[in-house]
Amino acid sequence: MAREAVYQQSDPRDPGDDDAQPQNSGPVSDPSSPKPSSKPLSEENDGKLRPTRLDEMVGQQDVIERLKIAIGAALRRGEPLGHILFDGPPGLGKTTFATVIPAEMGTTLQMANGAGLSAPKDLLPYLTNVSAHSVLFIDEIHRVPKAVEEYLYTAMEDFRIDIVLGEGVNARTLNFELQPFTLIGATTRAGMLSAPLRDRFQIREHLGWYTQAQLTDLILRNAKKLSIEVEEAAATEIARRSRSTPRLANNRLHWVRDYAQVRAKGVVTLGVARDALDMIGIDRLGLDKQDRNYLETLIRVFAGGPSGLEAIAHTMNVSSDTLEDEVEPFLLRSELIVRTRRGRIATPKAFEHLKMQPPSV
Ligand SMILES: Nc1ncnc2c1ncn2[C@@H]1O[C@H](COP(=O)(O)OP(=O)(O)O)[C@@H](O)[C@H]1O
Ligand SMILES: [Mg+2]
Repeated sequence: MAREAVYQQSDPRDPGDDDAQPQNSGPVSDPSSPKPSSKPLSEENDGKLRPTRLDEMVGQQDVIERLKIAIGAALRRGEPLGHILFDGPPGLGKTTFATVIPAEMGTTLQMANGAGLSAPKDLLPYLTNVSAHSVLFIDEIHRVPKAVEEYLYTAMEDFRIDIVLGEGVNARTLNFELQPFTLIGATTRAGMLSAPLRDRFQIREHLGWYTQAQLTDLILRNAKKLSIEVEEAAATEIARRSRSTPRLANNRLHWVRDYAQVRAKGVVTLGVARDALDMIGIDRLGLDKQDRNYLETLIRVFAGGPSGLEAIAHTMNVSSDTLEDEVEPFLLRSELIVRTRRGRIATPKAFEHLKMQPPSV
């Protein structure tokens, strides 16, 4: 249901409407949303730009191709699609795939979050609500506690749950038959999933970083949806500073649009894109203030490392989960830090980027 509402908002035929409203009006205009999970605002805002079909997605071609085959086969056989696990850093399209797949299958979607499923009873409303061949999406599935996870095993394997009521001699087991359904799980930490859970997903897909060309393509397409003129060189620059991540490309595009409308007659040239991104502290490598703060802490306080993640997190006053999920993956990929058994180490490239002197050895 919520998904329908979001899709209606994403109708690109009414650009005037979009200009008249503040960007974060999305959730407000959908007060009936029964979504049980609360997602970060940035994701909700993105409704207009979130693809609704596989063919509207950029990149991940191999993943899309495999999914199309699996979907086509399931539809042809009249069976539910096999359970799917998506893993990868934030903002690369896990939730997008989870919403697009049921649309391709012509079925419904329920959304849950692993953090909200603390006891088996939290799972029941979702499982008893599944209709035949529908999709249940559990985001952050690595947060599902063991006691709940065990219910997922039989639900996934046999479409059945056994609930024990009462205790001791009065204990009774109730067996519920479920409709055959598809579980889609998403996680930023595939390594934290237990083997029995991981093995029950027939399809496992890792979402990797996007190339600059793919993000440039995404930005040019989304500029059209937002009815804003973005020159090709500007799109390339925004893509270069988006940390290989579609969510960030969209966020940057929104900001550059605001900036261009107020400061530059609405046209995004290379110069406008650069000025706008410089103004919010996004540098040439696409690092934001938090990313640079991480590197500065590692270099200034810990002399470039090796330093444990917890120590860096405490010094920065940020949770170590945030650093590990949102900050480190791109720094690692950019070879600005390395992870060793003794801790994190800043590379010469990091010193150079921050214009700081490596300690003399
Ligand atoms: N392959 C893609 N093509 C187009 N847009 C994408 C793609 N992947 C992600 N996006 C955009 O980036 C935003 C964030 O993606 P999302 O699926 O929420 O990431 P995740 O769940 O992995 O953190 C989406 O709302 C969507 O607009
Ligand atoms: Mg998500």
